[in-house]
Amino acid sequence: MPQGVQRSVRETGEEEAPSHSCRGEVCETQVVRSYTEWDPLEEVVVGHLDGAVFPAWQASMAATMPESSWNLFREQGGRPFPEPHASAAQRELDTLARVLELEGVKVARPEPANQETGFATPHWQSPGGLYAAMPRDSLMVVGDTIIEAPMSWRCRYHESDSFRTLIKSYFLKGANWLPAPRPQLTDDLFAPDPRAGGYAITEFEPVFDAADFIRFGRDIVVQQSHVTNEFGIRWLERALGPEYRVHRIEVNDPHAMHIDATILPLAPGKLLVNGQRYIPNALFADWEVRVAPAPTLPYDWPMYFCSPWVSMNVLSLDPETVVVESHEEPLIDALTDWGFRCIPVDFRHLYSLGGSFHCVTVDIRRSGGIGTYLNV
Ligand code: ALA
Repeated sequence: MPQGVQRSVRETGEEEAPSHSCRGEVCETQVVRSYTEWDPLEEVVVGHLDGAVFPAWQASMAATMPESSWNLFREQGGRPFPEPHASAAQRELDTLARVLELEGVKVARPEPANQETGFATPHWQSPGGLYAAMPRDSLMVVGDTIIEAPMSWRCRYHESDSFRTLIKSYFLKGANWLPAPRPQLTDDLFAPDPRAGGYAITEFEPVFDAADFIRFGRDIVVQQSHVTNEFGIRWLERALGPEYRVHRIEVNDPHAMHIDATILPLAPGKLLVNGQRYIPNALFADWEVRVAPAPTLPYDWPMYFCSPWVSMNVLSLDPETVVVESHEEPLIDALTDWGFRCIPVDFRHLYSLGGSFHCVTVDIRRSGGIGTYLNV
């Protein structure tokens, strides 16, 4: 561990002194509590694909989605993903859940939802939803608070509903619950030509996907993106209050949407980066940074939502253990060489639907407290 990181974590001493958040209500333990991406994982939500459908097209997607998907989303929005691929992806998710349980992690799953039902606001309508597969996009846990993100894709407007039973139960056991202001998602939010450079969204109202933020104890790193605007970052910054510091980083990703295939901290002082997208700045001066090996996905594998770089979207179970896609042998070798125990899990069918292990999960509880890990 780099010297600077060791020093600052010890100085806070706060990881030894978890605060209790029940605020006078009856509860025995802090049910929601997670400050980092790497502390020992005790409870996690794993998404599912029940009822999942293609997203309905909106023009801002052109900035982030593979061009091969544009017509597909225009024509198939609101209709189920093709079989047998979707069922294979669902099995991969279920296997992940079992693997986590075998590792001693408590796993919760969202409610099934009928994503084929259309919906409307006074300003727009959507022929369907999307899925409950990627809780890291819509939910974020910071300390004892569950934050619901105001996402900018109209088809995702009701996405956190699938997680409401869980959120309500965590709230009743003492967690804080912080839904961001409901966005209107009117045309004012969207740039007139999302391919003209600049971001696909304006500063009309606060929007963000939770997956554009990554947690380092009291420091939270964010990329502005085609789904996260400065207004949204400022909202979250103010909602979290002075205990947290939000740092904006510049990334080299013209299709920016979700930071966790660009940087991923695996342990205090160990940062995995996408070398094509990010050159570490002074924030990580005390950290050992390693570049993720190139993904191994065959070139013709269907990828409806994202790049093959979701290969580096691993999930840390503790500072020595990561879940890695089983075909990503160069990454497994690199992480093993770096001192990690790798748990290989097949996940390529799930890749096709937009993410990997970090995306399909959201931490509920990791042991350890708030600490200071960055050089600020
Ligand atoms: N949007 C990120 C990528 O495609 C996850 O790599």
